[in-house]
Amino acid sequence: MNFRDKAFALLKENRRDTGTGHTYTVPSPEVYPYQWLWDSCFHAIILAKVDAEAAISELRALLSRQLDDGMVPNIIFWDTKLTRPYNWGWGKSGVTSITQPPMLAYAAEAIYRHTRETAFLEELFPKMLAFYRYLIERRDPRDHQLISLINPDESGEDNSPRFDKPMHVASDISFFGHMYERHKLVRANRVCNFDEEECMRKNFWVKDVPFNTIMVKNLEILAKLAVLVKDPEAEAYAKLHAGLIRQAMRDVLFSDGVFWSAEGEKKELLKVATWAHFVPLFAELYTKEEAHALIETHFHNHDSFRSSYGIRTVSQQEPAYRAAGFWRGPIWMAPHWFIYQGLRAYGFESEAVWLRSVSERLIEHNGFREYFNPETGKAYGAHNFTWGTLVLDMLDS
Ligand code: GLC
Repeated sequence: MNFRDKAFALLKENRRDTGTGHTYTVPSPEVYPYQWLWDSCFHAIILAKVDAEAAISELRALLSRQLDDGMVPNIIFWDTKLTRPYNWGWGKSGVTSITQPPMLAYAAEAIYRHTRETAFLEELFPKMLAFYRYLIERRDPRDHQLISLINPDESGEDNSPRFDKPMHVASDISFFGHMYERHKLVRANRVCNFDEEECMRKNFWVKDVPFNTIMVKNLEILAKLAVLVKDPEAEAYAKLHAGLIRQAMRDVLFSDGVFWSAEGEKKELLKVATWAHFVPLFAELYTKEEAHALIETHFHNHDSFRSSYGIRTVSQQEPAYRAAGFWRGPIWMAPHWFIYQGLRAYGFESEAVWLRSVSERLIEHNGFREYFNPETGKAYGAHNFTWGTLVLDMLDS
């Protein structure tokens, strides 16, 4: 089977029926047998290429469990027979109380590019808008124009060392030690009743670079979708906030030629070098000159980010770097995909071709595994993990 057939076969194999009129795709049948927010957006981007209906169902299922305030939970536990490892919140109604990077508008546009039909957009647009509105209104209570996370898991990079300082953990913390601290944080946020402002003030308040970059890009796309569904007010709103976040990222998070996440009311920079330096390319937040400097200084730097197998998620020079440490160094396919899109946006063609080919090779050699050791290429974690299908989008573009 060629790569394309293998990718679609995996998505088909991981597809589930809720029995209540919805279908969705699990990221991995053994390790992640539920529906995840940003994973479903990735699935929709790939499914759109062959089966637009399946892609639409993926987003429809996700949005069907949106909370009243507009938040879309990071996990929906559709199959109630399965034991839940942890519910990341109240867990009462089969969903978590935290969210994940807002890739919904991007995924919806990917579907539209293939179908050119607006019926599904008209159906889903108000829900998507409510989600972005929630993030702008509830996750930025002090009008810093930067969206805040109340738990590291909302970044999708659960134990990334970007969060070590706000989590009050040492750089050599173990995977399970970190998990324990994140569970403690959820308990503290339950005490705050998941009231965003109070939870931020008391427990954890991070303005994260990837999340805000994804927000800018998605708001820009939301503005285009607003034109398609003839909602000029939403178009103006999305454009306005994309611009405000873009500007605040530059004013607050940009230092030494790269973007850094920041913490708290004072917006103190969290100076841990991770792939968050590269992700702003995705929303074209760097000027051309800055992007060139970034590629020379960091992308091509074998001592920090570049390895023979791809781009490390954490710089090798960081004390927290672990080649096999989940989000503390290994190569993951979603970061590769975001960086790839960014490289293409700026016209870094040879870098993009290299990233695409190392990504394809990792999957061809190891199968659809979860993450990879940058020093040896060894694969770890979940099997039949769907993120590898994103490589197809690199091969297509
Ligand atoms: C892991 C990843 C997260 C992803 C989830 C399901 O927790 O860190 O980003 O959404 O698995 O694949």
